[in-house]
Amino acid sequence: MARMRKKKNLLPRLERAGVYLIPDPAALRGNWRGALGLPPDAALTVELGCGKGAFAVATAKGAALRGENTWIVALDKVREALVVGMESAMAEDPSGALPVRFVAADAAELDKLFAPGEADAVCVNFCDPWPSKRHYKRRITWDPFLDLYAAILSPRGVFRFKTDNEPLYDFTLERLAARGFSLTALSRDLHATDIPNVPTEYETRFSAMGLPIYFAEAVPPRPGTPAAPETGEAAR
Ligand SMILES: C[S@@+](CC[C@H](N)C(=O)[O-])C[C@H]1O[C@@H](n2cnc3c(N)ncnc32)[C@H](O)[C@@H]1O
Repeated sequence: MARMRKKKNLLPRLERAGVYLIPDPAALRGNWRGALGLPPDAALTVELGCGKGAFAVATAKGAALRGENTWIVALDKVREALVVGMESAMAEDPSGALPVRFVAADAAELDKLFAPGEADAVCVNFCDPWPSKRHYKRRITWDPFLDLYAAILSPRGVFRFKTDNEPLYDFTLERLAARGFSLTALSRDLHATDIPNVPTEYETRFSAMGLPIYFAEAVPPRPGTPAAPETGEAAR
């Protein structure tokens, strides 16, 4: 994301929309369902790098309209972006009833925020591609990140990934296989398929430019699954 200018009045804005912020997410580790009032069979989605929250708010709004018992926790390390998402949620429902909450944190800290098996979906949408080969370890689909996602996913959990960047997509498919994930859905032109989709802010922008959207869904390795042999960029 282009560097965001420091937004004026960030703290009062965070406070005004505070009903949608989880200020101390580590305190909820292992008890997100209890804190959010979710029954055991309801789904909890974690979105990483949510930016200004368009996907999270639209997903929560859709779930609420359909009467689904689903919550989305949207995380970004940049509070200037996060506050825009919180304000969109406020504009939809200032009481805090929209099933979405925002967390200011780094994806690398995920295991400090969620206990093993606590999430039903992890979504990474249009993450920074870090195109230089030297920087592949910064991509949030690099192995240690994928291992964090696998650890917090429940037995029915899925990982979903969208990007406009084909090299990042290929890298991610390679790393998912290397970490023992099984691919369950793939498309190199998501909008040409009937796969249900909620567009993100970046997706809307790229799609308007005529670019295809790449999509992957994968399930994490089950205990005892061997990882695939190393091939591709990261093995070299
Ligand atoms: C290119 S923007 C995409 C925003 C949004 N997902 C979309 O599709 O419109 C990437 C976002 O990821 C966030 N981000 C990058 N690295 C992160 C990390 N390690 N942890 C949390 N957020 C991160 C950035 O702050 C930025 O908001």
